[in-house]
Amino acid sequence: GSGPEETQESRPFRTRRSQDCCVMMTPLSYSPNHTVLVNVNEFNHRKKLVPADGRAQWDALHVKMPYSKENIFMKTRFLLDDEKMSRWSVISKHLKKIQKGSPTVADVENAIKSYNPQYESSWSFAGLQGYVQSMREQESIFSQVIPKMAELALRLPETVLRAIPLLQQGRTHAITLSQYQIASLLANAFFCTFPHRNTTAKNAEYANYPTINFSSLFGNTSHTVKEKLRAIFHYFNTVTKESPRPSGLVTFQRCHVRDSDFPQWRTQKEVLGNVRVTSEGTIEKEGRGMLQVDFACNLVGGGVLGSGLVQEEILFLMNPELIVARLFTAKLTDNECLKITGAQQYSEYAGYSKDFEWMGMHQEDLPRDRWERLHRQIVAIDALNFKNPKEQYHKNKIKRELNKAFVGFSERDVSPSNLPTIATGNWGCGAFHGDPILKAVIQMMAAAVAQRDIVFFTFGDKRLEKEVQKIYTLLTERKTTVGEIYTLLDVYCRQIECGARVDLSQYIWNQMKSSL
Ligand code: AR6
Repeated sequence: GSGPEETQESRPFRTRRSQDCCVMMTPLSYSPNHTVLVNVNEFNHRKKLVPADGRAQWDALHVKMPYSKENIFMKTRFLLDDEKMSRWSVISKHLKKIQKGSPTVADVENAIKSYNPQYESSWSFAGLQGYVQSMREQESIFSQVIPKMAELALRLPETVLRAIPLLQQGRTHAITLSQYQIASLLANAFFCTFPHRNTTAKNAEYANYPTINFSSLFGNTSHTVKEKLRAIFHYFNTVTKESPRPSGLVTFQRCHVRDSDFPQWRTQKEVLGNVRVTSEGTIEKEGRGMLQVDFACNLVGGGVLGSGLVQEEILFLMNPELIVARLFTAKLTDNECLKITGAQQYSEYAGYSKDFEWMGMHQEDLPRDRWERLHRQIVAIDALNFKNPKEQYHKNKIKRELNKAFVGFSERDVSPSNLPTIATGNWGCGAFHGDPILKAVIQMMAAAVAQRDIVFFTFGDKRLEKEVQKIYTLLTERKTTVGEIYTLLDVYCRQIECGARVDLSQYIWNQMKSSL
């Protein structure tokens, strides 16, 4: 029989959370593909967080630091030659003033423009001003937190000593740093001190990187940007409190898979693994402790420092330590993802997109691993943006999305029985216009080859929940292999290209029934 009742129920399985996986972790150590910005001996033996030795490097392989001696500022002088000054000395001078007083938005604006004089007339602070005015006095943490943020920014030279490598395209490399180091870097980003990072124009040095200086957040007067600023100031308020200081580490790993190491989709013999489909809950909440998928932009964080406010941006605002990834993560290519372990959630939210609202503090209660990282694993994978949705029904596009999901889901060196369940959902199906059924099938195929289970959150969509469930049940009952599904999709695409008008779930249903 094929009664609908039969297809409603997910097969029960136990989801696995990161904290329940028995992964043997080696002591934290420096290695050629892992840059650790804290001193590993102090960390391993005394549980102390001390910056790792080293010094900033001003080259194409590392983040250019605001305090580098090479960071030069040209001061124009009337009737005299330009004077070369250390830009950090200008930054310090102005941030020290901010640190002392009870600064206004205008003070912050003047400080930021003093060492970014090219943007004197183009950068607006109307949004920041609007934010401060809109807060009731007792709610406004601006004048209290800004001085502490200036202090945090000024501490950077003694907080991060070792050069931070850029996570460039084509390489697998990880950076581990402390939450305090991240806070100091982000305070600098807020005050727009990072050199060479104010433009991503075509031939600019950092054209291939997301923006990091926060200038783009300050001009926007919309209600949603006010809500973003509330989340950001809440973060800075929390990390600058005396206690409890965020005291752990966070790892950012760029993963690259070589072309020759991808599955041969057409011939893969796996059947689909465990999948639970639910219209209730969200990836970040009900998926806590699982591998949480960030529906990313290839420039990680997407529009978090601008007007964007969908899944990825909300994730980055609730867990602002993620924003520091923008400092060093080059645009993701088709073979790559970024995995982040240990980022803390500071805020709660309600609503979505235009209705997004900051809802106050989040009490973090996740346990930490041996490296003092919170058990929160996030993987940023960027779907293709199908401006014309028809484009997605093409073999090359499907293969690209399969490979991308596979990079994100696969984990070398860990046995599948110790991998947390994947928490995902309508990846690529909002801003990027993907077909949710096609994307669900693609993700189930990639997870099957990576030997992982999935909880699939349809974000309130009951109809989609039923559809995905129906197709999943059918494919698993028939023990359809990944290779067979790939072929099925291929044939479907060719029919669509020839003008057929049938949706994917209907097509799969018809094919599977007729193959009986
Ligand atoms: N949990 C589960 N599902 C969610 C959640 C959540 N927290 N939030 C949203 N959804 P979208 P994309 C569902 O548009 O299409 C950003 O700017 C919801 O059904 O964020 O991959 C990035 O930076 C939503 O419609 O992802 C990229 O530039 C769907 O997931 C771009 O958007 C897709 O969410 C990525 O767009």
